[in-house]
Amino acid sequence: MKTRITELFGIEHPIIQGGMHYVGFAEMAAAVSNAGGLGIITGLTLGTPEKLADEIAKCKDMTDKPFGVNLTFLPTVNAPDYPGLVKAIIDGGVKAVETAGNNPAQVLPFFKDAGVKVIHKCTSVRHSLKAQSIGCDAVSVDGFECGGHPGEDDIPNMILLPRAADELEIPFVASGGMADGRSLVASLAMGAEGMNMGTRFIATKEAPVHENVKKAIVAASELDTRLVMRPLRNTERVMTNDAVEELLQIEKEKGADLKFEDIIEQVAGVYPRIMTEGDMDAGAWSCGMVAGLIDDIPTCKELIDRIMAEAEEIITQRLARFQGA
Ligand SMILES: Cc1cc2nc3c(=O)[nH]c(=O)nc-3n(C[C@H](O)[C@H](O)[C@H](O)COP(=O)(O)O)c2cc1C
Repeated sequence: MKTRITELFGIEHPIIQGGMHYVGFAEMAAAVSNAGGLGIITGLTLGTPEKLADEIAKCKDMTDKPFGVNLTFLPTVNAPDYPGLVKAIIDGGVKAVETAGNNPAQVLPFFKDAGVKVIHKCTSVRHSLKAQSIGCDAVSVDGFECGGHPGEDDIPNMILLPRAADELEIPFVASGGMADGRSLVASLAMGAEGMNMGTRFIATKEAPVHENVKKAIVAASELDTRLVMRPLRNTERVMTNDAVEELLQIEKEKGADLKFEDIIEQVAGVYPRIMTEGDMDAGAWSCGMVAGLIDDIPTCKELIDRIMAEAEEIITQRLARFQGA
């Protein structure tokens, strides 16, 4: 399938794997790219320019297809070495970057000069328009359903995507709640040029995470995520577990006085324990409502081939039946 997104990134299918902390290693990105999508390494998980450069080199050994790197800008006191990470991406010959978390204006000129295409992840139309105005090549429009940080507006994709289509000139992909061929066709119908998936790609054979994480996603329903850190205006959608219920109890007790330090035990440094060690109650980890649509653990190629076949079937069979009906 050809769309403005497949053309922009030089990929076969309009499917992107969003950056995911402690999931987006070379194994994940290469598996998605080898299956014809755009795989993405998560820059901040590697942390230093040296480690990111090694991971990019490793990914290049695993695929000759295009892949990208996610750069998430965090509101943190001890900022990572962003200039060094940007240099590692450019020197590594990576041609696609997914930015997220904050306005990427500071890094854009470096990527532009190096011919790197930038897709910025936004949770609102106004941020998408801002991304367009500063020169991003595309945006990933992340609805309220999404795993991770949905922002504070709470607009689901059924509204957000057509709103984005009405306003944007640059191409965008639908992100949040995407799982199958139905998601892809619906996204295209609402004006997107493809889709971005996070949670769905964790439940694949190649995802370099503990089996317990994959099983938890398969076992979960659409009712099993919670929103945490809303009082801090840093809302995150996570899978529920004992630590998350504890965290929500603390939020309730502290009310407007909540500080990050109050919930540090449930959120700080928990990703390696969950993703690598499989300790599923260690703390809060991002997961989308789309878990309710995930029932198996295919390879990335099986998943993407299935999505494209289902999309084709919906367009040529199911939707065609309504034509002139
Ligand atoms: C475990 C996990 C970790 C994530 N980490 C990041 C991250 O570090 N940076 C980022 O920009 N997005 C991150 N995301 C968001 C995804 O890139 C993607 O936008 C989101 O998962 C889409 O929603 P979905 O899960 O419904 O597909 C994460 C998502 C998950 C599930």
